[in-house]
Amino acid sequence: MSGSPPELPLVVLDALMPTTQRLVANRRGSMVWEVEGDRGRYAVKVGYPIEATADWPAQPWTALAPAREGTVLHRLGFDDFAYGEWDHGTWNFQPWHEGPDLYQLWEPCRNRDSLIEPHTNDALGCVEALAELHAKGWAHGDIQPAHFIIGPERTHLIDLALARGGLVPQGYDFPFRGCLVHYEAPEIARSVLTTGEAEPTQEADVYALGASLLISATGWRAVEYADDAPRPVQREAVANGKRRPVKAPGELGELVDAMLSYSPGDRPTIYEVGKALS
Ligand SMILES: Nc1ncnc2c1ncn2[C@@H]1O[C@H](COP(=O)(O)OP(=O)(O)O)[C@@H](O)[C@H]1O
Ligand SMILES: [Mg+2]
Repeated sequence: MSGSPPELPLVVLDALMPTTQRLVANRRGSMVWEVEGDRGRYAVKVGYPIEATADWPAQPWTALAPAREGTVLHRLGFDDFAYGEWDHGTWNFQPWHEGPDLYQLWEPCRNRDSLIEPHTNDALGCVEALAELHAKGWAHGDIQPAHFIIGPERTHLIDLALARGGLVPQGYDFPFRGCLVHYEAPEIARSVLTTGEAEPTQEADVYALGASLLISATGWRAVEYADDAPRPVQREAVANGKRRPVKAPGELGELVDAMLSYSPGDRPTIYEVGKALS
């Protein structure tokens, strides 16, 4: 995978006939392109295995993630997408959603002397997108600000590669090994520390959304640990619930605190969060 410039798999080129294509992201086993063709504009995700480095063990599952996400999209009843296999792993494409993500959208709120408060409506859009998934009986597993795209009509929740809630074919499935630690609920962090794996839940999604709203509105992580702390040390801090004494501004403050409750049972459901905001 190293050396030559990345290319889209042939099957994807055949299906989308790109007139323009742009590599959006290429990191840790996953490439994402924005592709435009006669059929419309699509996000193309291409997975490949990660070889072991000094910091990372080998991660063959990244090759499976796009196909896994494809099967989740299918289960959830989406129609305009496809997925399949290529030489080094799997791929999928799905409609491209235009708009900033939550972190970009709230950038003006994070300036030191900013008097701009985050809009409740932006938060509500994210809540509604997650509520839609929860209503279908699924948990997302990887909630973070970059996964909410705030479009002109609605907010889209992307990256369903780790979602749980229905059958995923064994050949494309892999265990959940946690997500970005900043957004990991204490019970997830503890489970990953002790067993290497965890079970995504709707309660953990609510925690992760609380942490996402907090960091997007204030620039602060919910939990206190050093920027350069090794991952297990970060997870220890999360598992021990070392909450930073920082509050989201305005009416988000109390609500985000509740979403970040240490015990999953103390957190509001996503529907309760929605009610509180509307
Ligand atoms: N459907 C989409 N519409 C718009 N942007 C997307 C879409 N899918 C992915 N992206 C962009 O690509 C980035 C990475 O995609 P993501 O689905 O999170 O894959 P991964 O985390 O595996 O790299 C996103 O943060 C977003 O900027
Ligand atoms: Mg992602």
